[in-house]
Parts: sequence; structure tokens; C-alpha cells
Amino acid sequence: MIEVKDLCKRYDGRTVLDGISAAFGPGEVVALVGPSGGGKSTLLRCLNGLEPFDGGSVRVGDDMLEPGDTRAQGERLWRIRRRVGFVFQQWHLFAHRTALGNVTEAPIHVKGLGPKEATEQGRALLAKVGLSHREQAYPSELSGGEQQRVAIARALAMEPEVLLLDEPTSALDPERVGELVDLLARLRTDGLTLVAVTHEMRFARELASRMLVLHGGHIIEEGPPSQLLASPRHERTRAFLGLDRVAGLPPLGS
Ligand SMILES: Nc1ncnc2c1ncn2[C@@H]1O[C@H](COP(=O)(O)OP(=O)(O)OP(=O)(O)O)[C@@H](O)[C@H]1O
Ligand SMILES: [Mg+2]
Repeated sequence: MIEVKDLCKRYDGRTVLDGISAAFGPGEVVALVGPSGGGKSTLLRCLNGLEPFDGGSVRVGDDMLEPGDTRAQGERLWRIRRRVGFVFQQWHLFAHRTALGNVTEAPIHVKGLGPKEATEQGRALLAKVGLSHREQAYPSELSGGEQQRVAIARALAMEPEVLLLDEPTSALDPERVGELVDLLARLRTDGLTLVAVTHEMRFARELASRMLVLHGGHIIEEGPPSQLLASPRHERTRAFLGLDRVAGLPPLGS
């Protein structure tokens, strides 16, 4: 579905992604974890052409993005954007549109769906994310968890095959995290490929089939979350998971 080869990205001459190779198959759920500044958001943005890169390639189906200005890659970029949806950490909902308006905007203006059809589809999507009762609410009237779900419904409205999520749980309390995990688990059974940057290990453990640890622009470790969380091989992964600190504590009761 998505294949990344030797991906390199520099900002102002500083290497942020240093030869990343990875593949994301249909229906797979992958958690992208690692310390702050390791390049997770940058990698995610490269996967749907939101970010130009300096070396290597990103292939989505038959379409290949090459180094350089992604906007100059025209049709290919648009086809990739249609297939690969993105949910931003801060959601970026249209403030002057209702929940339903947010979900129908792109299908009408990008896909050319009629308003009636788009509204029907939008209602079904809001129902899917548990927000039928909030169709007419504006983003400022919605809780963080509700806005997050509108953002997911909006991305789904373009019927992507892959959904990229950058720290989807960061603004949510533990109960909302549980709801989001349930929602994404339902999407997974629909066959959607999910790639999520997350600091929430519960999210990774309950949802992901594979975890990638990104550090210093490299994938330093990967594997099933159960295995990786229980016995990380790389010392940087151990430090990131806080295992060294826990191991360094005196035993309880001493
Ligand atoms: N637009 C930019 N211009 C210059 N440097 C940038 C830009 N965006 C990101 N960087 C740098 O690239 C590196 C990787 O950033 P990135 O946002 O991908 O990290 P991250 O792993 O997502 O971190 P976090 O967990 O804090 O979100 C960081 O050192 C960051 O400062
Ligand atoms: Mg980030």
C-alpha cells in the first residue's frame, strides 16, 4: 500500500530523516513512537506529500513521490492525497462550519458530490463516530474528544485507504482515549490502514499490529507492541519507555 525507501529529509541542512525504509500494508495498524524531535511527525507528513523530502521515495499504490517540491508532482500528489487521509494533532477544523459542514466540505468541493448526497454521507459518518446529536454544533461548542472525532469523520469522508494520525490522543483524557481506541478498532475491521504517531502505549498495545521506534531520524527498532514493550532490545527504546528509570528504583517497601 505505502512503501518508503531510503527517505531522507533535511531542514536547513540538518538531517531529520536519515534513510528511512518501511512498508505499510493494507489493513495494517502501525504505531510510530519515539522521543520528541525524532522525526515522527515529519515522516508522517512525508507519507501523503504534505512535506517535500530530499532523498529516496514514497510509493502509494502505483503512484510515486520523488524528492523535491511535491506540489510540482501534480496529479500524482492529488491521487495520493485522496488515498491517504491525515488527521492533525490540533484537528484544524473549519471554525465557521458546523460538525456536519466540516464533514461535507471536501466531498462537495473536491470530489464533486451533490449537497444532498454529501449530507447523507456526512450524517452516516458522524453517526459512526458517535456524534449524530452534535451535527449542527460549531467546533468551539464541541469538546476536545468530539472535535477529534469530527476530524476523523472529515478525513473518512474522502474514503481514504490509509489514515495517518499525528498524536490523536494528546488532548484527550483517559476515558476519551478509550473511546478513540474503540472507534479506531472499528475502522480497522473495515480494512482501513492506520498509521498513528502516539505517546500512548495503551493505544499502541490495544490497536497496533506493529510498532516502529523512531530516533534521530532512524527506525531503531520495530516489532509487535507486546514484544517490543515487554523486552525492547535497543537501549534508547528502553530509556524512552522509562524502563531504565523503573529498573533503577529501589524495590517497593525498602
Ligand atoms: N518546519 C521545520 N523547520 C525546521 N526544523 C523542523 C521543522 N519541523 C520540524 N523540524 C525539526 O525536525 C526534527 C523532527 O521534528 P518532528 O516534528 O518530526 O519530531 P517528532 O518526532 O514529531 O517530535 P514530537 O514528539 O515532539 O512531536 C526536530 O528537530 C524539529 O525541530
Ligand atoms: Mg510530532
